Amino acid sequence: MASSTRNKKNKDKTKKAQKSGGKGALKKKDRRLNRKNADRLDLYQRSVNSPDNDVDFLTEQFEILRGRPLRHLREDFCGTAALAAEFLKRHPENTAEGFDLDPEPIEWGKQRNFSKLEGWPERMTFHLADVRNPADKRPDLTCAQNFSYWCFKTRAELLAYFQSVYADLAPDGAFVVDLYGGPEALHELEEERDIDDGAFTYVWDQQEYQPGTGNYKTAIHFRFRDGSEWENAFEYDWRFWNLCELRDLLFEAGFGEVRPYFEGTDEDDDEDGNGVFEYDEVGENCEAWLGYLISLKGPRSNEIGKR
Ligand SMILES: C[S@@+](CC[C@H](N)C(=O)[O-])C[C@H]1O[C@@H](n2cnc3c(N)ncnc32)[C@H](O)[C@@H]1O
Repeated sequence: MASSTRNKKNKDKTKKAQKSGGKGALKKKDRRLNRKNADRLDLYQRSVNSPDNDVDFLTEQFEILRGRPLRHLREDFCGTAALAAEFLKRHPENTAEGFDLDPEPIEWGKQRNFSKLEGWPERMTFHLADVRNPADKRPDLTCAQNFSYWCFKTRAELLAYFQSVYADLAPDGAFVVDLYGGPEALHELEEERDIDDGAFTYVWDQQEYQPGTGNYKTAIHFRFRDGSEWENAFEYDWRFWNLCELRDLLFEAGFGEVRPYFEGTDEDDDEDGNGVFEYDEVGENCEAWLGYLISLKGPRSNEIGKR
């Protein structure tokens, strides 16, 4: 069953915060966190990224669908590459490539996510480049997380990106994008979430949706315990793409199978997701939902094991 939330990110951390007794458990540094001393990318990672869950999902699904372990990952729009760093930790033979146009998150990510990983430069390549460029080595799996591919606003641009991913992948490779949908996804609204025992508040702001163009403006703000706020810490100018449009484009780009996965519902709170994504061709029309599309190059998933 699909969930009615868009808040998969960091849900586990929110639950841990509740269990550990709330604000009393705050670290000294977090008690003093405010607009002046906060690190924008640290706030982002703590609020948005959940690399352990993402890597679990990608590695498990790849092995099921392709019948072999995932060893070379390409993270498009990688930012700080938290996901690639987690992937390297999982197995000594794992290698990764990350693509991003912005040097700031890449440099920050090298220091914060990679510097303690012994020998990481031999296993990770950062490309300060557009995602439409080829990788050094054909990826087993390419992923584009946090709706970043919505920066491509025309059909022609998004198709060209999907075609470049298809051409670049290994012959039995997979491409994974995340999805957001449901009527509430198009409403202008703000959604708040307490992060790490209430150290700060993450605010997801759906600022504007234009039905005529599909233009979709969103932002992330952070609010602190001392009343200060980092307004528009991150701003996104996207087109809202729906699942069926994306599926059509992925088939057109050459993928032979495009599989939707929807998040299940939290058993204690039916307004919330449970972080578990299951294959479902149909989906459920709830207020807001999160999902993934896994697109396969080469053999169909039901042919795996017969070869
Ligand atoms: C929403 S952030 C996502 C970062 C990361 N994927 C995550 O989940 O935390 C989008 C990133 O895409 C990068 N970006 C935007 N257009 C790009 C392009 N055409 N090629 C490569 N990177 C791009 C931006 O610099 C930014 O770091």
